[in-house]
Amino acid sequence: MNGNMLIKNASQVVTCSGFKAKQGRAMSDLHLIENGAVLIEEGQISAVGSSKELLADMDVASLKANGFDIIEAQGHTVLPGFVDSHTHFVFGGYREQEFAWRLRGDSYMDIMRRGGGIINTVAATRQASKEELIETGIKRLDSMLGFGVTTVEGKSGYGLDRATEIKQLEVMDDLDRIHYIDIVKTFLGAHAVPQEYQGKADAFIDFLIESVLPEIADRQLAEFCDIFCEQDVFSLEQSKRLLQAASKLGLKPKIHADEMVALGGTELAAEMHATSADHLLHASDKGISNLAQTGVVATLLPATAFSLKEPYARGRDMIDCGCAVALASDLNPGSCFSESMPLLFALATLQMNLTTEEAITALTINGAAALDRADVIGSIDVGKQGDLVILEFPSYHFIPYRIGVNTVEKVVKQGNLVYDRSKGGISYC
Ligand code: NIG
Ligand code: FE
Repeated sequence: MNGNMLIKNASQVVTCSGFKAKQGRAMSDLHLIENGAVLIEEGQISAVGSSKELLADMDVASLKANGFDIIEAQGHTVLPGFVDSHTHFVFGGYREQEFAWRLRGDSYMDIMRRGGGIINTVAATRQASKEELIETGIKRLDSMLGFGVTTVEGKSGYGLDRATEIKQLEVMDDLDRIHYIDIVKTFLGAHAVPQEYQGKADAFIDFLIESVLPEIADRQLAEFCDIFCEQDVFSLEQSKRLLQAASKLGLKPKIHADEMVALGGTELAAEMHATSADHLLHASDKGISNLAQTGVVATLLPATAFSLKEPYARGRDMIDCGCAVALASDLNPGSCFSESMPLLFALATLQMNLTTEEAITALTINGAAALDRADVIGSIDVGKQGDLVILEFPSYHFIPYRIGVNTVEKVVKQGNLVYDRSKGGISYC
């Protein structure tokens, strides 16, 4: 595990080349290299190009003698590791009963209004020990890695009190150290109004600003601050107040916007120059055009719409209007208990009418931009982290074509082969 690797003779290297979010038409440009090669040294990409060019002045035998892992990728496709930029993967308990109720016709918001939903998971997460959260967290991360995810964002938001919000973020720190996947942390203390503050959402926002945010910022427990800006949850004014206070402390804003009704969270995200606006099922034309103008990443979560039987966000219109669209799983115990990348590709292409090229951009360089990391991950460019996936097939077109089935054969993290399906999965060294 020295971070040194040469991948050669790949049928395709899909570089997704770029160092910032791709908007509109630019999302179609994958910067493809046929019969390509990638060299990674000490975890960083040091060369990428056609195998012919790259191998011409390279002594493969001496690289091998010097401990480089040489991967023969004939018949395989190489892409940047996928960036899942919106999840709630650290939580206690499950809500399988609510899923059954939804199948019988109850809506997500009905269940929330009668005291279920997020508040249910809050009770279980408050009770869970750090060790329990780490144990389930590792299992979820292992599954994500097998789908080709090399960086994941994780949100707090199942504590809604100081101690548990901090516990969730500390667990993510531990998981970041333990697991190959890089974890980017978001404080989502304003995920729901806890029972202690029922009917007093403003006072709860005050509490978060005065008693929780300062410690989160001081201890650098999170890089982003998010809020569930939604009818019957937090208003536009409350969202603005919290995110402004967070910005002053150095936490960058994100918004769960216009998920259930058109409240105007999309416009607020643009106004505040948030790093991303997420969900957007009911985003208005004006909101969409504001996102395009400001370059705020539109993070779409189609597996959640699918799971809630809600209409999909207007991804096609957003790209046509010039937005930078990212795709993410939204893995959480309520609205979408899935980290499946094959499902995301299927929904994005077959239901939201994105092309395969756009969907790949949305899960790589634009996912990285949604985490303000487009300069270090999300593409196969010299100087970037050596995070790659290698598909079992010779072309990227197999990803959505192989409907609902995982096409990832190998995963490379910082130049090390950390997952190989043909050798039984994750390598625990
Ligand atoms: O992104 N919408 C709010 N938050 C999550 C769901 C959380 C839950 O139900 O536990 C979401 O869909
Ligand atoms: Fe979410």
